[in-house]
Amino acid sequence: MLKSAGDGLREVPYPVSDPERIPVKRYYDEEFYQAELDHLWPHMWQNACRLEQIPDVGDWIEYSNIGKSVIVVRTESGIKAFHNACRHRGVPFAGGQPLDKDYSSAFGNCSKKGFVCPFHGWAWNMNGESTRVYGKHLLSDRQLDPDDVNLVPCRVDTWGGCVWINLDNDAPPIREFLGEVTHDFDLHGVEDLRAEWHYGTVLPANWKIAMEAFMEGYHVMQTHPQLFEASTELYAGMYDEPGARGMSERPRVANENPDIKAAIDAQIHSFQLLSDGMAGMIHQKEVDILKTVPIDGLPEDPGEAIGMWFGMGMAAITQELRKRGEPCPDILEVSQSHPVSAVQFFFPHYFLLPTFASMSAYRIRPLGPEKCFFEIWSLTTYAEEPDPVMEPTVLPYNSVEFPMIPRQDYSNIPIQQAGMHAQGFEFMRLSKDVEGMISNYQRIIDGYLKGVPEEKLTAAIHELRLNFDGPIKELDL
Ligand code: FES
Ligand SMILES: [Fe+2]
Repeated sequence: MLKSAGDGLREVPYPVSDPERIPVKRYYDEEFYQAELDHLWPHMWQNACRLEQIPDVGDWIEYSNIGKSVIVVRTESGIKAFHNACRHRGVPFAGGQPLDKDYSSAFGNCSKKGFVCPFHGWAWNMNGESTRVYGKHLLSDRQLDPDDVNLVPCRVDTWGGCVWINLDNDAPPIREFLGEVTHDFDLHGVEDLRAEWHYGTVLPANWKIAMEAFMEGYHVMQTHPQLFEASTELYAGMYDEPGARGMSERPRVANENPDIKAAIDAQIHSFQLLSDGMAGMIHQKEVDILKTVPIDGLPEDPGEAIGMWFGMGMAAITQELRKRGEPCPDILEVSQSHPVSAVQFFFPHYFLLPTFASMSAYRIRPLGPEKCFFEIWSLTTYAEEPDPVMEPTVLPYNSVEFPMIPRQDYSNIPIQQAGMHAQGFEFMRLSKDVEGMISNYQRIIDGYLKGVPEEKLTAAIHELRLNFDGPIKELDL
């Protein structure tokens, strides 16, 4: 437990006292990790599962993190969640394998038999009400009170096509916690997406190191040279001078290319590389539709032409997907009215990467100070409800089966973790202009560890909206 700092707050080990410098011990120190387990995670909305994984009444799935297991279940009266321990002697009543023993979540349907504890057979219905205490007469009456035998509910909420749980019964609702960005993504159709595939891998790195590899595009030139080569002007423009951010800037890519057809071909090539490299995010069907957009009659100015073509591409994707019966927002309209980042981080452990209608998603869970479980989903639109993807395909982080872009990112993460231990390396040095998100979310972690008031913490979390590749912000924490 952290010591009191004397002002009603706790003393944080290795705090971020200079926003441009992140102390390395935060990435491996046992005490710091324990502080996160004690003061951060128990108050977080955690992404527990995708809604499509529990489509029918009685469907349940396990979610575990930081050694706590929760069972999420769909009931007649909505989604519920229960802490996964039998009220008798604590055996998990469903699933129960620790995350680092079984990286897929246990799941099933309890509508017929309810939940039955494997030890002495106590049982409950899907609402968590006790339906059997075997040999009741053997226990004192006071041990049989409903409050003693019913399952303990866990805070649960839904957003973005997912179920979220929170160990803190006093936490604000998830939309309040994450803020306006939830509404932005609602309009971008996030609820209508379904998983096409789901991969997982164990990374020998602190969970924050793993996440930070996805909080800026400054690494693209070196880590993803194929993307840089395909869109050199875009990336050079973004990192040569501050100010260019996110997908609304993408049309800049070929502004200086006088040949409009060549410029558009280059743009399509770059989208194709992203699509291939992520095996999704920009879905192949979206690239195929972009290729059909006519380019005659575009303005002569290449900048204007490519901007107009991009808008036409968004409109064409919308129109074509809708024609196929797939749910699709008006991509052009929402990208203007409610722009979103190419990569949006949802504090503390979830990401969405939107471009057109499809998106990728990441979820990260710590497995110890220097180990984490990293998952990727490819999310897309379907005309008919697809079969849900129930389990991740778990591969070694260097597996050639991973799509190229995450494989390139994964190649840096384990060696970066080793670098944290190098003599003379005391803190990371961040760019104040494009690596701000790393500083911003790290200081929010400190806010939780210190125990600053909830309103200040949520206000700071809201600052992470559109903060990908963004500046260090002044946070009132
Ligand atoms: S521990 Fe569950 S019935 Fe005994
Ligand atoms: Fe990357």
